[in-house]
Amino acid sequence: MTDSRPRRAVYPGSFDPVTCGHLDIIRRGAALFDGLVVAVSPVSSNPEKAPLFNGVERVALLQAATRDLPNVEIEELHGLLVQYALDRQAQVILKGLRAVSDLEFEYAMALMNRRLAPQIDTVFLMTSDEYSYLSSSLVKEVARLGGALDGLVPEFVAEALKRRFQEGAEASPDAQVAERS
Ligand code: PNS
Repeated sequence: MTDSRPRRAVYPGSFDPVTCGHLDIIRRGAALFDGLVVAVSPVSSNPEKAPLFNGVERVALLQAATRDLPNVEIEELHGLLVQYALDRQAQVILKGLRAVSDLEFEYAMALMNRRLAPQIDTVFLMTSDEYSYLSSSLVKEVARLGGALDGLVPEFVAEALKRRFQEGAEASPDAQVAERS
């Protein structure tokens, strides 16, 4: 029997902050699924890394960046991702893959998530090549040092970064180890 429920996907990440690479995945995901929930984790996959923007700020930046996409919702993610996906009646976890280096960790997470909830599939979209090197960590490092971010993040995100560093915030020193989002 065919499943007639709307196809809904959850795209999780820490989005600290959202980049054009994330937005590329969000736009393509929104075209592939009836609904896409972008789930903003308050902590990053590296718990040692303090976020630059808090959860509410990251949600607000994502909302502003996806205003033109009516089937995209932005929410904070608390607890286990698969439980959240089940609660939101999503069938798919959507992830972006930039390079082979992303694969090892993403593969482990996908298999763990499948073990926890076999009814949910993880779908990977290859990031467009122009963003294949882009990460929130690198963006923060460039912003901290006053470099130009044109085409890498929306303009209002670049402004938010500038303001945050003018307030004296510290970017994580491990930006060279590109984060997985
Ligand atoms: O952008 P990030 O920091 O790489 O995103 C990591 C994220 C949010 C996808 C991951 O930490 C996650 O899924 N967190 C939710 C908690 C959970 O379910 N953990 C088990 C994953 S196998």
